[in-house]
Amino acid sequence: MLPKINPTETSAWKALTEHYHEMKEVQMKDLFSQNPDRFDQMSLILNDILFDYSKNRVTEKTMDLLFELAGECHLKSAIEAMFDGEKINGTEDRAVLHTALRNFSGDPVLTDGEDVMPEVEEKRLRMKTFCNRIHSGERKGYTGKPIKHIVNIGIGGSDLGPVMVTEALRPYWKEGIEAHFVSNVDGTQIVETLDGLDPEETLFLIASKSFTTQETMINAHTAREWFLKSAENEKYVAKHFVAISTNEKEVQAFGIDQENMFGFWDWVGGRYSLWSSIGLSIVLTIGYDNFEQLLKGAEASDIHFRNTPFEKNIPVIMGLIGLWYTDFFGAQTEAILPYDQYMHRFPAYFQQGNMESNGKQVDRNGHPVSYPTGPIVWGEPGTNGQHAFYQLIHQGTPLVPCDFIAPAISHNPIGKHHPILVSNFFAQTKALMKGKTKEEVAGELQDMDERKRKELVPFKEFRGNRPTNSFLLKKVTPYTLGSLIALYEHKIFTQGIIWNIYSFDQWGVELGKQLAKKVLPQLEGDQKVESHDASTNGLINRYKEWRR
Ligand code: F6P
Repeated sequence: MLPKINPTETSAWKALTEHYHEMKEVQMKDLFSQNPDRFDQMSLILNDILFDYSKNRVTEKTMDLLFELAGECHLKSAIEAMFDGEKINGTEDRAVLHTALRNFSGDPVLTDGEDVMPEVEEKRLRMKTFCNRIHSGERKGYTGKPIKHIVNIGIGGSDLGPVMVTEALRPYWKEGIEAHFVSNVDGTQIVETLDGLDPEETLFLIASKSFTTQETMINAHTAREWFLKSAENEKYVAKHFVAISTNEKEVQAFGIDQENMFGFWDWVGGRYSLWSSIGLSIVLTIGYDNFEQLLKGAEASDIHFRNTPFEKNIPVIMGLIGLWYTDFFGAQTEAILPYDQYMHRFPAYFQQGNMESNGKQVDRNGHPVSYPTGPIVWGEPGTNGQHAFYQLIHQGTPLVPCDFIAPAISHNPIGKHHPILVSNFFAQTKALMKGKTKEEVAGELQDMDERKRKELVPFKEFRGNRPTNSFLLKKVTPYTLGSLIALYEHKIFTQGIIWNIYSFDQWGVELGKQLAKKVLPQLEGDQKVESHDASTNGLINRYKEWRR
């Protein structure tokens, strides 16, 4: 059972509320000049990841109070409850055990009195064997050609994780294998993806935990029809379609037999499922050994999260600092800014990770929360973002705490590209922290006519004091990426526990889905629709008119 503590009723929260008033005008640049050891005291290394949180609006006192808050909210016992397989997903009465998927300790992981590890290991072995058979050419397409194209059809957690990881690890792609991803129900994506593919060389992975998701099922049927146009025989479907799901019954109803089904379990949340069979597209793209490295990197972060005192615990600190801005500074958003082109889907992945997990308005007692919970998470790779939205981060009115991420070693060390890239990362975090005073601006403009100079100064001032976390990775490898993803996952967990919300359900996506099912038949025929509000009726009727 998870604790059900209203965080605002803890003494740490009250102390933080007072402390905020002491801190709100404090300048980070002054904290740096007062304490030359600030970086050493506020940075941590986990394997090949350096986490620097010194450019935040925090002091030792802030951190102590935040650690107290975590203590009063029983974070430690909640972490144990997750790793121990307790049913901490209270509204769905499920355990949350994605950590078991990357457990290589040899220790059992029990839920409902049963050790899940034998099945986890069996599934890993099945993925490995399947992958090796595809890569060696032992398992071929229906005309005997080797498989060259992997098309993963899934959405949300059954898409974003595999896309993000395969993109981030492009340098590890197996020669001769090309991965494709179809998620959107907009026919454009599947049409564009299939265009130019040879059905004889294409393997479809239908990835859906529930196997009832409308988008995925429609895309899967379209792919099947496309395939059968060439194959002309249902018996070949088995060679080219694999299902990844927890729902055996629906998989069978679709026409995929058990032999071509990779299962997983209801204790794996969709947005935490890339470590399970949902990662099959990753396995097929980078090879099983690299996938295992990804899992082992994540395991290293799990061990760190579980065993490290909060004062040195990276995901706990990430979570607490985020919460400090959300609940005390009123920050409504957070940006994730990878300075690595291969990691371009990392912000989108954690947009779902954060927003579907902690976008909640009711606490674990079923009462409306009286404090802000999950922020809006967004981002784009640097340096592109610098020429798009950094203006607002530097000089806009909202406070946008940012995570900067970059590897020290590039996979493409061409010319001066990489030093230029990371010099921008370092410069941006400094500029955001330090800003530029009116006096500095005036000094730069001293050759200018005085009246003009006075006019310009306010526009060119940077108030600074904008917080950032920096993640410097040695290199983006499967192991390091696995570690980094797991750190972010545990950050979400940390915040969800303190906010007293359930992070592993997602009821908020249901209403729209249900209504879409009602609207769909109304789009047929000429009859005027009048059953909705005026706006919805108006949109539907105009749509119908324009298509007549
Ligand atoms: O949109 C909600 C959601 O349930 C996500 O949580 C999930 O990742 C996605 O849909 C896909 O679900 P499934 O894997 O069952 O197709």
